[in-house]
Amino acid sequence: MVLGWAGSALMTLAAFGQTPSAIPMDDKAVEKRVNGLLNQMTLEEKIGQLSQVFVFAPSPQVDEQVAKGQLGSVLFVTDPARINVLQRLAVEKSRLHIPLIFGFDVIHGFRTIFPVPIAMAASWDPAMVAGAQAIAAKEASAVGINWAFAPMVDIARDPRWGRIVEGAGEDPWLGAAMAAAQVRGFQGESIGSPDHILACMKHYAGYGAAEGGRDYDASYIPETQMQNVYLRPFHAAVQAGIGSAMSAYMDLNDVPATGNRWLLHDVLREDWHFQGFVVSDANAVKSLATHGFARDLSDAAVRALDAGVDMEMAIGATAYAQNLAAAVSSGKITVQRIEEADRAILAIKVRLGLFEHPYVDEARAARVLASPEHRTASRLAAERSAVLLRNEGNLLPLKKGAYARIAVVGPLADSQVDTLGSWAFNDDLAETVTVLAGLRRKVGAQAQVNFTPGVEISRKFPSPFDQIFPAKPRTPWTADQAESEVKKAVDLASSSDLTILVLGEAQDMSGEAASRESLTLPGNEEQLMEEVTATGKPVVLVLLNGRPLDIRWASEHVPAILESWYPGTQGGNAVANLLFGDAVPGGKLPVTWPRNADQAPIYYAHNTTQSPESQGRRYWDEESTPLYPFGYGLSYSAFRFSNLQVSQAQVKAGQTVEVAADVENTGASTGDEVAQIYVHQQYGSSSRPVRELKGFERITLAAHEKRTVHFKLGSGELSYWSAAKRAWVVEPARFDVWVGPDSKASLHGNFTTTQ
Ligand code: NOJ
Repeated sequence: MVLGWAGSALMTLAAFGQTPSAIPMDDKAVEKRVNGLLNQMTLEEKIGQLSQVFVFAPSPQVDEQVAKGQLGSVLFVTDPARINVLQRLAVEKSRLHIPLIFGFDVIHGFRTIFPVPIAMAASWDPAMVAGAQAIAAKEASAVGINWAFAPMVDIARDPRWGRIVEGAGEDPWLGAAMAAAQVRGFQGESIGSPDHILACMKHYAGYGAAEGGRDYDASYIPETQMQNVYLRPFHAAVQAGIGSAMSAYMDLNDVPATGNRWLLHDVLREDWHFQGFVVSDANAVKSLATHGFARDLSDAAVRALDAGVDMEMAIGATAYAQNLAAAVSSGKITVQRIEEADRAILAIKVRLGLFEHPYVDEARAARVLASPEHRTASRLAAERSAVLLRNEGNLLPLKKGAYARIAVVGPLADSQVDTLGSWAFNDDLAETVTVLAGLRRKVGAQAQVNFTPGVEISRKFPSPFDQIFPAKPRTPWTADQAESEVKKAVDLASSSDLTILVLGEAQDMSGEAASRESLTLPGNEEQLMEEVTATGKPVVLVLLNGRPLDIRWASEHVPAILESWYPGTQGGNAVANLLFGDAVPGGKLPVTWPRNADQAPIYYAHNTTQSPESQGRRYWDEESTPLYPFGYGLSYSAFRFSNLQVSQAQVKAGQTVEVAADVENTGASTGDEVAQIYVHQQYGSSSRPVRELKGFERITLAAHEKRTVHFKLGSGELSYWSAAKRAWVVEPARFDVWVGPDSKASLHGNFTTTQ
């Protein structure tokens, strides 16, 4: 029954990834059209195309700029009627009738909110992820948005960094798979596919390595890590045909990413042959002066454009609009460079079909946004993203009817906004299903479900975004109130047959400008959890959050822990299905889960230096191993890996080895396992990580079913950037290979590559 439902919904979701094909416009035709326009454009119009501004409310000034051809793009307009008004000004009033491109942060859904990106990565299901982004694209394009500022493909190895929630975690291979899947989802078969939009890979590049996990702080990344780790998902997005990139905010090795010609030109254009255009992050061009890199705004504009930033995103006027004309007159920048940027932008506008179809069908928008299919897809995505971290005594799945009184406790249990996650702006909050609502719907009259929040949580320092997007008002409790609320929760747990604790972080605690110095459960959540657990009644901990948290105590004392991340619009229904066994958890951690913040940065693919035996004892006051390894996650069933076969013991370097292994569901119910393959190069011109993920496959197996999974290890998998040779190499060496359920997989084989 479970399979039947999930199977058909999954097919629906995967089908969204396969779009009706658009006929990609022939390069010559695009070039001709672009050149035709450029030949007629004044310098002011050429600079106009390179400017993008935020529009939060109708603005006569913006209207005038659009009508004069002084803007190429706006972002944050989501009302289809308003989009048409602005587009009419561009198309009918501006001299050359060049349409605007409308951008928006479509990160994990538009109206239907999907689980946050780190959750989607935890599904290890690229087809599902592509389907989800195709739905997001369909909804966004229905209101007239042409361009998503996603996927965010920053590798993050420090969970203190708030934006870890927006990416696919720590691993370049998984990150690359998720990057490519999202490009497919957003853009469809090619740029301009109906119901699809342009994707934008961000934040190019190295943002995730912000020192101390402090958002916006500088990154220092050696070239070897840059190539082998941080750049790989970006390269995968380019290979998947992405049409735009966003330059990052921070300094990279002392050269701001937005003024970094090595990144924006040498790697992106020369090495990867990227054909799209680059937009800066918001105000990142202007902040080149703040960094102490550019002398002033004029210097900032010249150096960003020179480095390769084609379009500037800004709040208020762009530095480009204010300075580039003068810079041309004084010879600081050439018209050719401006035209080159225009070419890239205009080519995308042509390919998107904006010249032929600049307007949106306002009547259709509401119908698309209301689609029940999209809600089903979101629920399925949340189910596939959840990770079961602990399940002592098989407390889960809960048996329906076995608990007459269920206590639901925690500040996030009935909070719609905290169910959605960090980039939800255009959702319909009222339709968001909280965990409490989902559980009530699930058990119906079979149990009495009582709720109390137990604690209140809030940031010590408010989010800077509260000014733009007012946060949910949170009234801090008095000390007396706090004490009595904990007591109330403990009393409720004592008088119930089961408690479902819903803890974690509020929506504004993960995301941009949401870094933390610690990973503890916020506020008094830890105390609440410990006291509720001490009642001796069964307790299930459901986590809603965007990063690994310090759950050392829970990992030893709370029998069942389900990581649900921020699960989105249908979150509560998904959690209820998972807890009661109408869906089976099969997600796996896309990040190493540390014991506490002091272990950061921490990741599984580290090198072994000195004595490997002491790897777990690098600190004397805490283990240096994580709480849960990368790739980890349980199921309600159990799986066994066996019979690892390597096709050849020896091949020439560059040739492909095939690896197969059997996976058997040894449990009594259907479930999903993610088969993962890891390799280690034992010696070479550089030291290599102890293990690196090189492939994975999520499979569904019926009870006692056995299947063979197959992987290929060729030059794509075995090549790496050698620090010693400063080149990509596939070396003659001996390799270890493991296939298993996580990065601790023990089923092992070997092969050798020769000269
Ligand atoms: C700043 C963020 O860093 C980026 O991710 C986002 O796309 C832009 N603002 C636009 O909102």
